[in-house]
Amino acid sequence: SSEGSVAFEDLLEVAERAAKAGAAVVSERVDKPRNIEFKGATDLVTDTDKASEDAVLSVLRASFPDHALLGEEGGISGDVNSEYLWCVDPLDGTTNFAHGYPCFAVSVAVLQKGDPVAGVVVEFAGGPGSWVTKTYSAAKGKGAFLNGSSIKVSRCKDVNQSLLVTGFGYEHDDAWMANLELFKDFTDESRGVRRLGAAAVDLCHVALGIVEAYWEYRLKPWDMAAGVLIAKEAGAKITTMDGRPFTVFSRSVLAANEVIHSSILERTQPETEALMQKGIDLSPWFLP
Ligand code: IPD
Ligand code: CA
Ligand code: CA
Ligand code: CA
Repeated sequence: SSEGSVAFEDLLEVAERAAKAGAAVVSERVDKPRNIEFKGATDLVTDTDKASEDAVLSVLRASFPDHALLGEEGGISGDVNSEYLWCVDPLDGTTNFAHGYPCFAVSVAVLQKGDPVAGVVVEFAGGPGSWVTKTYSAAKGKGAFLNGSSIKVSRCKDVNQSLLVTGFGYEHDDAWMANLELFKDFTDESRGVRRLGAAAVDLCHVALGIVEAYWEYRLKPWDMAAGVLIAKEAGAKITTMDGRPFTVFSRSVLAANEVIHSSILERTQPETEALMQKGIDLSPWFLP
């Protein structure tokens, strides 16, 4: 396509404006009655997911009409041949949002030739009547920030002294079962394994150093694109759960500080290889 290349800082500025536009929609509706629909038995979507996506995409379209856009609710749009692909999760942690339970976010990132180069996650913490937002951001090679202050991963070197976090998707398949085994083992081995229900927030919590590691199967690019860049820029090592190079299209993610990463991998790698030997498809996800 005809576009020129854009400085990472300029992409980040737009990502931040877009994520904040989505977050404003979420803030406005967070304590009001929710309109819930079902994509699957426990897979919810609300009118707020869609309204937030519209708000995010309109900022992106106005700034970069020749980029490709991928939103969880609306799919792909724009120029699919662009070297830039924006990945938008307008509301990550929809189930939490629908119940007024803290821990959900708006996540916006841009890939250049498949590689995340700028990303923003606006996390909602607090609770009904007292919500606060926290803005995590990163541009490739420029570090990671929370509300403008530099953040770094934890330096804890011992799984025994670690707090970990994972997630379980809506599809209760073999990978989901395998993660229950991992959950059990790591609950025994560490100080605890949390399960918050918002992948983008989990990745930002690794970046912030309040958990040592995060892993999950079967996420989608919009769940991970901003969070993995933020975690990486904060010093995290990121691979798939079987230790392969990670891309946002990978079907598993393991993010942790360098030392803990290898300890966690010792357990997630054989579990993941066993899944693949059973014929469970963990090959990269492709745009439909
Ligand atoms: C979900 C959340 C959850 C993860 C699921 C995701 P959504 O995203 O990130 O933590 O376990 O796999 O689909 O649907 O709330 O945007
Ligand atoms: Ca969803
Ligand atoms: Ca999500
Ligand atoms: Ca979502």
